[in-house]
Amino acid sequence: MNVLPPDEAGRIPSPALLFDRAAIRVNIARTIECAGSPQRLRPHVKTHKTREITRMWLEAGVTKHKCATLAEAEMLASISVPDVLIAYPLVGPNCDRFARLVRRYPATRFGVTIDHVEALRQLQAVFPHARDVVDLYLDVNAGMGRTGIELGPDAACLYQEFGRIPAFRPVGLHIYDGHNNNPSLEQRRATGRSVWQAVQEFCDRLRRDGHQLGRIVIGGTPSFPVHAEETIAGLELSPGTLSLHDANYDAKYPELRLKFGAILLTRVISRPSRDRITVDLGYKAVSPDSPMGQRCRFLAIPDAEVVVHSEEHLTVRTPQAERFSLGDVLWAIPAHVCPTVALHRSAWVIENGKVVDQWLIAARDRDITS
Ligand SMILES: Cc1ncc(COP(=O)(O)O)c(C=O)c1O
Repeated sequence: MNVLPPDEAGRIPSPALLFDRAAIRVNIARTIECAGSPQRLRPHVKTHKTREITRMWLEAGVTKHKCATLAEAEMLASISVPDVLIAYPLVGPNCDRFARLVRRYPATRFGVTIDHVEALRQLQAVFPHARDVVDLYLDVNAGMGRTGIELGPDAACLYQEFGRIPAFRPVGLHIYDGHNNNPSLEQRRATGRSVWQAVQEFCDRLRRDGHQLGRIVIGGTPSFPVHAEETIAGLELSPGTLSLHDANYDAKYPELRLKFGAILLTRVISRPSRDRITVDLGYKAVSPDSPMGQRCRFLAIPDAEVVVHSEEHLTVRTPQAERFSLGDVLWAIPAHVCPTVALHRSAWVIENGKVVDQWLIAARDRDITS
């Protein structure tokens, strides 16, 4: 299968990242359809890290966005995204950087997740005289055990503390359930139900005590179809990967019916034995964070098994090796698209069999202006 005709592909040096604009448009439309409305979405930008794909979401009516790094937050604010949530603990000098960001982009409302009183104090210190400048979300550990506070009296106390600081507005909860990733949709529904039960008990208790809890930001791509079934007010679904989709999620969650928005162009650079070819797709071009055999899916040789992966080389074993000549183009879908995108400075944008643009992966750097 050819992603581009040979004359178009021939213009692109390898290895290269390509974005399929029509596929991304389909993924955005399907996501909104599944969510029920653009207002129920807060997509995570870490997957694509580009201004252009963010603008595609904005044009589709999705105004709330989520990110993990200050560079991503600045990239979003630089194109006037109205509401940006940094779902990542800010500590040390990152608090000062954040305060500068808030001052530099007054048109954007920023939010931050907090899971510990120490983090709250560090953030408070950089907004000594401000009033109502930042939204705070209580980061909840719903079973993944990475960040977040477990629901219970300590979590309630921390949330109450948010409301005592003039610079902050407590707006609700943030819950990332990356552990809810079973291939079975029913299993994911069951895990989702238990999370909702605990969350609702907690919210009822806080509301009884007079606290406002307007928003609940929840989930990634695997749990997205599950949480999308909830009708609770203030729900914001925060998948990321589904902007571009990838081979891992395609194999595990076929019900998502998404298209591959990111494709790698690579070329055969060696045929070291009768059953092997080596291409220029080392782990500086495709992420190595999936098991060895499954770093990417080659469209022309889906049964190829990755046997060697080094910085600039990827060697596969395939009975079809002798079909290929040096310089032949192969198209590959990354197993894990988010870290793969971050390995590339820019992406070639394709549509209708042509290269139509080139987009900077603007937030792959750790900083933009500060
Ligand atoms: C806090 C947070 N929210 C949302 C997501 C999006 O998850 P996914 O990539 O499965 O869409 C991630 C992914 O790492 C995350 O860390």
